[in-house]
Amino acid sequence: MSNYDALYRQLAAMGQERWAEQLQAILPDKLALESTAKMAGWQSAMQSLPEIHPSRIELLDSVSIGSSDDLGQLDRQELMAHLQAFHPWRKGPYNFFGIEIDTEWRSDWKWERVLPHIQPLTGRKVLDVGCGNGYHGWRMRGAGADFVLGIEPFLLSVQQFQVMQRYLRDPQHHVIPIGIEEVPPNLACFDSVFSMGVLYHRRSPLDHLFELKGCLRPGGELILETLIVEGDRETIFMPPGRYAKMRNVWFIPSIAAMTLWLERCGFTGIACVDTNRTSREEQRSTEWMRFESLADFLDPDDAQKTIEGHPAPLRAIFTATKP
Ligand SMILES: C[S@@+](CC[C@H](N)C(=O)[O-])C[C@H]1O[C@@H](n2cnc3c(N)ncnc32)[C@H](O)[C@@H]1O
Repeated sequence: MSNYDALYRQLAAMGQERWAEQLQAILPDKLALESTAKMAGWQSAMQSLPEIHPSRIELLDSVSIGSSDDLGQLDRQELMAHLQAFHPWRKGPYNFFGIEIDTEWRSDWKWERVLPHIQPLTGRKVLDVGCGNGYHGWRMRGAGADFVLGIEPFLLSVQQFQVMQRYLRDPQHHVIPIGIEEVPPNLACFDSVFSMGVLYHRRSPLDHLFELKGCLRPGGELILETLIVEGDRETIFMPPGRYAKMRNVWFIPSIAAMTLWLERCGFTGIACVDTNRTSREEQRSTEWMRFESLADFLDPDDAQKTIEGHPAPLRAIFTATKP
């Protein structure tokens, strides 16, 4: 894993010495999970990654590291095999020294829907909750964020972040293997807090909103992206079992219900800035994610429905302010 010293220093500079100390105590235990067989495989692939110095880095319009010329005599197929050891690659895409990591999701499309509607990120300290492999965090840095901390309990995603970080060497972007429930309450130190694709996985969505609010400084901005359903303020859909084959989907609100939740949790300036029906072009199987994807999760005869007969994935982006 990366050296977290820069992270601890940054947190201390934000008045969060105590949290930095707590993280210093818990992160080694999280990383001890790396002794599993899977983790051993990832570690060995990580060690096999060659030393390459990227001649160029692009984070504003895409995440693109180096060019194929930087590889010199290195075997491109071998490099691809090392990257494939971190399969499945869900969030991206990445251009990695000319290798297109064509991930399951076009996460860049989500970012294009988000970015025009949020407070400019220049100089901001950002928390990205459920950041996956940190794809959006790189785009946040490209958009001028001063510091991005991603939290992500799924260790493979943290490893994928480390693959990129190994070449990008960015002391102002970190992804740590913790969930939102492990973040101390009322840190009140982030200018922007993102929660994208997380709320419907939480059994207690209102507590999730209070947790997010606690991370924000007064005047800070919440950017929340979630599945929604059509309906009025009374409409909140709880799937009786799986939703699009996912076992861990709990509450899917309508726009009006989500707005009410945000109001009840004390946010102001609430706006729903985008809605989007997820397409088979945005979420699909690729050579970098060879498992099932959206096409397998929808009713083959009616794309408006999931395979279970529920409304097909419709997503919305909300912005709101902590007073
Ligand atoms: C649907 S993905 C969204 C990833 C990314 N934010 C995006 O919008 O593309 C949800 C992510 O939240 C993570 N997650 C699940 N439970 C979490 C928790 N308790 N705290 C933080 N993240 C969590 C998952 O591991 C997963 O990477």
